[in-house]
Amino acid sequence: MTQHHQHEVVIVGAGGAGLMAALYASRGADTAVLSKLYPTRSHTGTAQGGIGAALGNLEEDRADWHTFDTVKGSDYLGDQDAIEFMCQEAVPVVYELEHMGLPFSRTDEGRIAQRRFGGHTNNETKQPVLRAAYAADRTGHMILQTLYQQCIKNEVNFYDEFQVLDLIVDNGKAVGVVAAELATGELHVFHTKAVVFATGGHGRVWEVTSNAYAYTGDGVAIPMRKGIPMEDMEFFQFHPTGIAKLGILITEGVRGEGGVLLNNDGDRFMDVYAPTVKDLASRDVVSRAMFLEMREGRGINGQRYMHLDVRPETVNKYAELDKRINPDGSEYRVTAEDILGKLPDIVDFTRTYLGVDPVKQPMPVQPTAHYAMGGIPTTQYGEVVIDTKSTIMPGFYAAGEVACVSVHGANRLGTNSLLDLVVFGKQAGLRAAEYANGTEYGKLPDDAADFTRQQLDAILNNKGEEKAADIANEMKETMTDKVGVFRTEEGMAEAFEKMLELKERYQHVGVDDHGKVFNTDLLNTWELGCLIDSAIVTAKCALDRKESRGAHAREDFPKRNDDEWLKHTLAWLKDGKVEVDYKPVKITKYEPMERVY
Ligand code: FUM
Repeated sequence: MTQHHQHEVVIVGAGGAGLMAALYASRGADTAVLSKLYPTRSHTGTAQGGIGAALGNLEEDRADWHTFDTVKGSDYLGDQDAIEFMCQEAVPVVYELEHMGLPFSRTDEGRIAQRRFGGHTNNETKQPVLRAAYAADRTGHMILQTLYQQCIKNEVNFYDEFQVLDLIVDNGKAVGVVAAELATGELHVFHTKAVVFATGGHGRVWEVTSNAYAYTGDGVAIPMRKGIPMEDMEFFQFHPTGIAKLGILITEGVRGEGGVLLNNDGDRFMDVYAPTVKDLASRDVVSRAMFLEMREGRGINGQRYMHLDVRPETVNKYAELDKRINPDGSEYRVTAEDILGKLPDIVDFTRTYLGVDPVKQPMPVQPTAHYAMGGIPTTQYGEVVIDTKSTIMPGFYAAGEVACVSVHGANRLGTNSLLDLVVFGKQAGLRAAEYANGTEYGKLPDDAADFTRQQLDAILNNKGEEKAADIANEMKETMTDKVGVFRTEEGMAEAFEKMLELKERYQHVGVDDHGKVFNTDLLNTWELGCLIDSAIVTAKCALDRKESRGAHAREDFPKRNDDEWLKHTLAWLKDGKVEVDYKPVKITKYEPMERVY
């Protein structure tokens, strides 16, 4: 039996963006959060190194330096009005989190501590600046816990382990969602005035990833099935330092604290690729450098990984060579206690998963699929836009990784994700509540749950000529080889054709579990369909963009081409075909220049 609920604002996803949206929406409207996970298990909890804000707690910093670094980091594809807004909002929002009780690490004077991160600089000296506010290496975890407590205090309604499978649209307006309750398998229809998608990314498309198992592109596929386009899907970030083979994140904060990347010859190769900021170049630059080193045979033992070395003797050696100093002018030096105190989770992860003690041994790392710069196109207020003329879809909002505002353009800077979550989660929540207050409930179709039921029944009724695991493996392998850090026309064309083939074969995937209670077999198979749709659009948009920019590095078009490609991609998936169009990038203060680190 389908059950029905009504809430003025429904937020899908309980990570940082979803909870911030819920907190703000709940101050003005009856608000519910639906999450396929228990909220504090959301992927925001894995974000480690910090949240970017020009607080200037340890040395001079400015919001306009942060803005410029973000524009430059985006390879000039980010919309500059939105970037400026985010970087200005960063300072008050970090203090707001502090006042909510977030346990930031502290300076000796009791201020919020800040560390260096890739691509964040003093724009005058060009040297890395202390901008990432952090809570040891558990910043995302602390944000998640803090916001969840605030939401509980504010009496937000939580529907935990409710997996949203469809967006209900009537006459071009979002009027609700359909969700499966994991514990019972029952479908629930939520009638709403406003829906906010904060569902995270789709990194599970790739083989080695830092992303949680839950990152399956649901928030990409569901809107596309309702005719809503995705923006800039060709840009997917590979974080340079995942644990080799496993992909688990080793924070950039390790390099922020002075750690260095070394090749098989023991050389710190980043000074060749980024002579000024070296290991703290932006992620696209560092990941490419690692690939090139490995291709030249300088991976560790000739294999596809490098060493990340944060042993105090190594950090101190390079700090001396780099003439790195503390804000008070003293020489920068670290001890084993500093590393253990500032990076406790990293020490724990590498001891647990690798048997490697990072204060005594270098860590084996490789680039890992990490972050979707593309997603649902939105304004800086979280409103979803559905065409190249920026037409707003009434009642539908998005925030966080699933959204493309676009503040990250072709490459996101580290620490700007946690910032994006709280800044734009807040805006989406405010706007959704405001909209809900000024409108009546839309019409809910009688057959609201039918499309969802058809999708699930199709899987349940299949004989199972195809296995989900085989299709998932083929997708991951192909996307990693052909639509990864380096790309070619031939490889991407092959990947696109392969994804279309997998979509066809997916129609024949069956499941072993035909029950209702916690049927993860069924829901994981449904998620695979979302991943395939995300991969199809990614491969096609990448194939069509004939230049290199940010995370999209083509061997056949190695240069950025602003004359033809300084534009955002919009892509629609219609009847298994991808339609692509383009819209201009918003340039306000910073004319595109060559990026040098
Ligand atoms: O390296 C990190 O701690 C990741 C941060 C981020 O993706 O912003």
